[in-house]
Amino acid sequence: MFELCASILAADFAHLEQDVRAAEAAGVDAFHIDIMDGHFVPAISFGTDMVRTMARLTSKPLDVHLMVENPLDFLPELAELGVKRVSVHAEIPGGPEAALRAIRAAGMQAGLVLNPETPVEAALPYLKHISQLLLMTVHPGRGGQAYLPGSNEKIAAARALLQERGSAAVIQVDGGITPCTLPGAYTAGARSIVAGSAVFGGTVQSGVACLRRSCAF
Ligand code: DX5
Ligand code: ZN
Repeated sequence: MFELCASILAADFAHLEQDVRAAEAAGVDAFHIDIMDGHFVPAISFGTDMVRTMARLTSKPLDVHLMVENPLDFLPELAELGVKRVSVHAEIPGGPEAALRAIRAAGMQAGLVLNPETPVEAALPYLKHISQLLLMTVHPGRGGQAYLPGSNEKIAAARALLQERGSAAVIQVDGGITPCTLPGAYTAGARSIVAGSAVFGGTVQSGVACLRRSCAF
């Protein structure tokens, strides 16, 4: 069993409510919201107004992925909006510790994100703060990319590391998840799955069903 988080970056913003309803009806567990500031990654996606809209549209948990240089600026509003989980990158200037502490202090679950080139050991200093370790399986910044080779090995290494250190953090994967790549990620140890194009790229109902079926072993 895994948690399926639908990444709204791939939704049709002209019909966002329709896409959210379809994803709920198809049985997604949560919505993943990618905030990009144009600095940490080149693209700008949306800000907290989108989180506000999503909080109005759904009662499913909101899982926010901050691809921003200054996560602290966003946290009070995210907490006020009832966001369940916020993940910040290990690679941000000054490191993620202050943000991880602030996320927890605000009553939300903290996640640490590692870019594809960041080794799993980079998570070690922060394990006591996190309930989720998010491994990017594409380079962050846009949807619809291909799952990077070597990702399954990295997931397995992260799982071994978490086990060795007695951490209960859940491994989340984000990027390039399809019915073809999901079984490998799941088998390696990922238990929270982010999918954008695979959910919203076609018919939502069948996209979600194909993802679920791919791991029905
Ligand atoms: C990429 C984002 C992802 C993106 C995934 O930087 O963090 O959440 O929406 O999109 P797909 O599933 O299409 O690769
Ligand atoms: Zn994301």
